[in-house]
Parts: sequence; C-alpha cells; structure tokens
Amino acid sequence: MKKTKTLCFANNKGGSGKSTTCCNVGYELSKKGYRVLLIDGDMQMNLSLCFFSEDKVLEAAQNGNNLYTAIKEQKALDDYIMPTDYEGLDLIVSSSLMSGIEYELFTKWQREFILKKCLQSVKDSGKYDFILIDAPPTLGGWVMNLLCASDYLMIPVEASPWGLFGLANMLEFFSTVCEISPDLSLLGVAVTKVDERKNYFRQTMEALSSTDGVYLFDSYIRVDSSIEWAQDNSKPVAAHKPSARSAKEYRNLTEEVLSLVNRKK
Ligand SMILES: Nc1ncnc2c1ncn2[C@@H]1O[C@H](COP(=O)(O)OP(=O)(O)O)[C@@H](O)[C@H]1O
Ligand SMILES: [Mg+2]
Repeated sequence: MKKTKTLCFANNKGGSGKSTTCCNVGYELSKKGYRVLLIDGDMQMNLSLCFFSEDKVLEAAQNGNNLYTAIKEQKALDDYIMPTDYEGLDLIVSSSLMSGIEYELFTKWQREFILKKCLQSVKDSGKYDFILIDAPPTLGGWVMNLLCASDYLMIPVEASPWGLFGLANMLEFFSTVCEISPDLSLLGVAVTKVDERKNYFRQTMEALSSTDGVYLFDSYIRVDSSIEWAQDNSKPVAAHKPSARSAKEYRNLTEEVLSLVNRKK
C-alpha cells in the first residue's frame, strides 16, 4: 500500500493565497485520479466555502461535524469527512469555534500531536493518496499541530510589497517544528496573485530565488478574476471555467508539486 502524503499550505501572512492554492491543487490532483482529502484548519472556513454553500458550511460548523469538534474531543477524523461534488475529493470542514482551539490544546497531553493522532486511522486506511491542509494566518500551537501532521510544507506568497514580510518568521517556525517532527520538509514557495506589469513581481521572484534552502516553484499564479467568480460559486477555478488562465497555471503548479513529491520520497 502506498503511503498517504500530507501537505500543509501555511504562511503567517493573510491573503497570500493559501486557501485558493489548497483548493485548486487539491482539485487538480483529484482530476488526475489521485484520491484527495482536504482539511480546513482555519476558522474563516474559506477552504470549506470553496466547495460548499454558506448554508452547508454553517450547518456543519454548528452541528459538530467539523474539525474543531473532532480535535476538542480527540476523535478519529474518519467520521468527519464530507464528500464534495467531485470524484475522489473529500473535505473536513472547519468551524468559527476554531478561534478557541489554542485554549483547547493547552491542557492536552502531547498537544502538538493531537491532529496527527486524530488523522492516523485515515492515513492507515490507505483511502487517500494526498491529504491537503489549509492553515490559518498564524504561528502557534494549532499551526504546529497542522505541520506535525504533515510530510510537507508549501508556502504560498503573494507578489505584493508586503508579500515577503514575515516569511523569515514562517521559515524560523518551520525549523522549530522540524525539531519535534523531523520528517517534515519544506516543499517550496509558490508565488500567487502575480501582476507581471508590476515591479513587485520581479522583486519577489528575485528575493525568493536567492533565499537559502527555499525552492521557488517555476509555476506561479497570476491575478485572475475567474478565481473570485469560481469562489463565489463554491467551485475550483477549473470546474467553474476550464479555459481560465489560472486553471492552467494551477494545473502546472500541481504537476510541479507531483514531480517534487515523487522525487523527495
Ligand atoms: N490568482 C488570484 N487572482 C485573483 N484573486 C485571487 C487570486 N488568488 C487568491 N485571490 C483572492 O485573494 C484573496 C486571498 O486569497 P486566499 O486564498 O483566501 O488567501 P489566504 O488563504 O492566504 O488568506 C481571496 O479573496 C481570493 O479570492
Ligand atoms: Mg485562507
């Protein structure tokens, strides 16, 4: 049985494209025939909203069928999985109560590894080729849980004046997590929301390509209003508008993710 690979999309900077990238890479992987589980780790529930209507997300957030409840009660995640409209693509939704997760973790034994333990039976079942986790824009005990449950970290960075601000903190946090979870590795940094007419783009690419120990993905994602329309319709961009430029770009990024993951382990 092949090992399930778990990727976490994290960056302490908000608006850097974590949820959008997690949604679209997940969708592209499923279209290629991989079985994918998406986990929404953010109280803003944006990844959940990429696939489900607001009503459906709020219902799951309130009726206990969500990640927060599972973690609080330390339950195996198998029973919290919801199918999406797409074959081979399932999702565990978040909850606005997730804002209190740090407090819940505080008193638990081995608190950095609660998600890892709750996810173990899902991994052991061999039901999924990939598990993709969307992180909130913070660095604390909860994101540490997300990373300790992951094999790879992928950092989406926005090509904007402040896009790189805080990246050093993210990389330092990653090194700290590696001390307790040595199998975690940094897959790379992917640049999103690129406007090639603006200087920030070139500046961002140059700064990243000269950052030690960081792989910069060749594929980057340009600004595309189709992404927003797709999200407004609770769909990945390629399902909403297959001809969209960003659909092709996310397909390329996914190919790059696959070749890196296959090369690393
Ligand atoms: N390539 C893109 N083109 C246009 N808008 C984008 C693009 N990628 C993301 N966005 C928008 O930018 C905002 C932030 O993206 P999001 O994925 O939610 O970031 P994060 O999860 O890091 O906070 C969202 O409103 C999203 O619709
Ligand atoms: Mg997000």
